[in-house]
Amino acid sequence: MFFIRCWLQLFFRALAKLILQKLKQMKILNLYAGIGGNRKLWGNDHKITAIEIDQQTADIYKKEFLNDTVIVGDAHQYLLDHYKEFDFIWSSPPCPTHSVTNHFLNAQGIIRYPDMMLWQEIIFLKHFCKVKYCVENVKSYYDPMFNPKEIGRHYLWSNFTISTIEQPKKDIGRMNGNRQAASKKNKQERNMVNYRLGQHVLDCAMNVIRSEDIKQGELF
Ligand SMILES: C[S@@+](CC[C@H](N)C(=O)[O-])C[C@H]1O[C@@H](n2cnc3c(N)ncnc32)[C@H](O)[C@@H]1O
Repeated sequence: MFFIRCWLQLFFRALAKLILQKLKQMKILNLYAGIGGNRKLWGNDHKITAIEIDQQTADIYKKEFLNDTVIVGDAHQYLLDHYKEFDFIWSSPPCPTHSVTNHFLNAQGIIRYPDMMLWQEIIFLKHFCKVKYCVENVKSYYDPMFNPKEIGRHYLWSNFTISTIEQPKKDIGRMNGNRQAASKKNKQERNMVNYRLGQHVLDCAMNVIRSEDIKQGELF
């Protein structure tokens, strides 16, 4: 009898832990994942799907985040097709055509338009996305179309409040692998969003989601 009671106690404790874990777990879409700068401190409690167009970069990401689902493909299209399947969406569209370096590059003969993919995603998410999202980019050389939150060298557009944090210093990840992989990694490391900024944004989103859940719970 004693043993059965102990066993039942252990069983229900494990069950409660599992249920709590599931309640805390979110389905996260990590678009333009790179090698995972913003994802680095998100832990392993969430179900994370990362979209990256470059196979070699995706391979580096997968080695670091074994539990994540990594899809090699077009993040812009993936967002349209799958945005309803997630609880939180992070997007880091490529920044080269927006950054202040374009002043210098234009003078050097690199003449180009800013890529409107960034604004397409912001407008789309703003109007159709029912869950929390954050679109990240570097500060642009032109006045942004929508007011962003500015943190460090980043612009952030979100449908929840992101509190101010001290400008994060850039963390550079470890280097390993062969020469070719190392140079790819080097480039991707320069592209990385600061780990702590990624964590801060997710924490802010989760705080809002939790308080909304509590408010909804109080209604019933
Ligand atoms: C600014 S970096 C992302 C940095 C990443 N968020 C991090 O913190 O490490 C942009 C990434 O998007 C990838 N990329 C560019 N165009 C893409 C597309 N259409 N679909 C998916 N990934 C794309 C690039 O290969 C690059 O790794």
